[in-house]
Amino acid sequence: MTDQNSADPKNANALWGGRFDAGPSAIMEEINASIGFDKRLYAQDIQGSRAHCAMLVRQGIIAAEDGDKIAQGLDRILQEIESGQFTFSTALEDIHMNVESRLRDLIGPAAGRLHTARSRNDQVATDFKLWVRDVALTDLEAGLRGLQEALIDQAEKHVATIMPGFTHLQAAQPVTFGHHMLAYVEMFGRDRGRIADCRVRINENPLGSAALAGTPYPIDRHMTASALGFDRPTANSLDAVSDRDFALEYLSAASITAMHLSRLAEEMVIWCSAQFKFIGMSDKFSTGSSIMPQKRNPDAAELIRSKIGRIVGCFNGLMLSMKGLPLAYSKDMQEDKEPVFAAHDHLGLCVAAMTGMVADMKVFTDRMRAAAGAGYTTATDLADWLVSELGMPFRDAHHVVGATVKLAESKGCDLDQLPLADLQAIEPKITDAVYAVLTVEASVAARKSFGGTAPERVAEAVKEARKRFLK
Ligand code: ARG
Repeated sequence: MTDQNSADPKNANALWGGRFDAGPSAIMEEINASIGFDKRLYAQDIQGSRAHCAMLVRQGIIAAEDGDKIAQGLDRILQEIESGQFTFSTALEDIHMNVESRLRDLIGPAAGRLHTARSRNDQVATDFKLWVRDVALTDLEAGLRGLQEALIDQAEKHVATIMPGFTHLQAAQPVTFGHHMLAYVEMFGRDRGRIADCRVRINENPLGSAALAGTPYPIDRHMTASALGFDRPTANSLDAVSDRDFALEYLSAASITAMHLSRLAEEMVIWCSAQFKFIGMSDKFSTGSSIMPQKRNPDAAELIRSKIGRIVGCFNGLMLSMKGLPLAYSKDMQEDKEPVFAAHDHLGLCVAAMTGMVADMKVFTDRMRAAAGAGYTTATDLADWLVSELGMPFRDAHHVVGATVKLAESKGCDLDQLPLADLQAIEPKITDAVYAVLTVEASVAARKSFGGTAPERVAEAVKEARKRFLK
């Protein structure tokens, strides 16, 4: 065994090591450090510190001269980090202490005044809220808007393109491809609604809650709240430093989005198979097989279909980290960031890839049209005709149509290819007017109810969707 103990007082953390005789063991340092991932919060950490510093000066808690030095030092650090000159240190644990320690190098003892009336507990809650609000929610919102636009564009091109609609993945009734595209526009619209809901609840400022109990200094939490774009300060200091609901809300919204993406991805995998051939995936989003030269694989769609596993895993992971934690802050909560960062990165890629795939896909309208009629998809239209034209109860009509489908099956033909005599042998009151409802064109055109698949409704829905989602 090697000695993991760096038991030397000079290794003790300079920012909190006052009561320690020795530095942490190497293993302790490794398990404790979050700088490897929380450095992604650098901009929010500096933003929060600047707002805090300005408030301390305004309230007369620190001298204006020290406040100026701190602000300039923070600007310099921002620039050092963004230009790649900053050296992050694991011994300094996290982004908060990395920044503060560098500030001390740059401006000397005045740096020590920045941490007046705050703690890393309210600091990290503030940084993380700013990141989730300004990066995670903002990026997802913009990505989903772009995806909706690609779907609406396809819907507009295909308001009258007829395809089979499925239930149980069995051909059910003809629908229009535009209608199918707009179904996903609704899903991603609800996802954007969930993001907007997250924004409402996230927007309270934890800064100034200090370690857990508040602070005796005469701080102005309303001032920092408005400087950081929050609606108000959080009402309870214990809750403020213990709350990670905002991260969980983001992850649950992200999980639902990932589920929606997985459904569209699965449909695209099915549609681009040789057996369906409803769409062709562009070269940009397909790969070849190393052994089968004829193949063209929808890898991007498959990966999108799979990513939900990771994203729900991120949600579950943070949920379990938070479960049963007593108030207020516990170090368990340091585990909050990686799942959020991972979900953001994976989901961002999925949304971007899906947007490209939707925009680039080729739609084989003739294949869709041919498939739309197969499987007796206008059987319901025949039943509806028996009800409306002959006054038959729907249940009886259902039986008549069942017998008709059975006959067509035995003859190996479609419903509209059965001679009138055959139809009349089943139900004598049928007239040749029935043929008008047996085509797939008539079937979709008849479905004019609000929210239905008729091309004229879909054309209206495309316009509405542009207004609702892209204005
Ligand atoms: N790195 C810590 C985190 O991410 C910051 C807060 C640490 N607070 C503490 N009392 N040790 O949660």
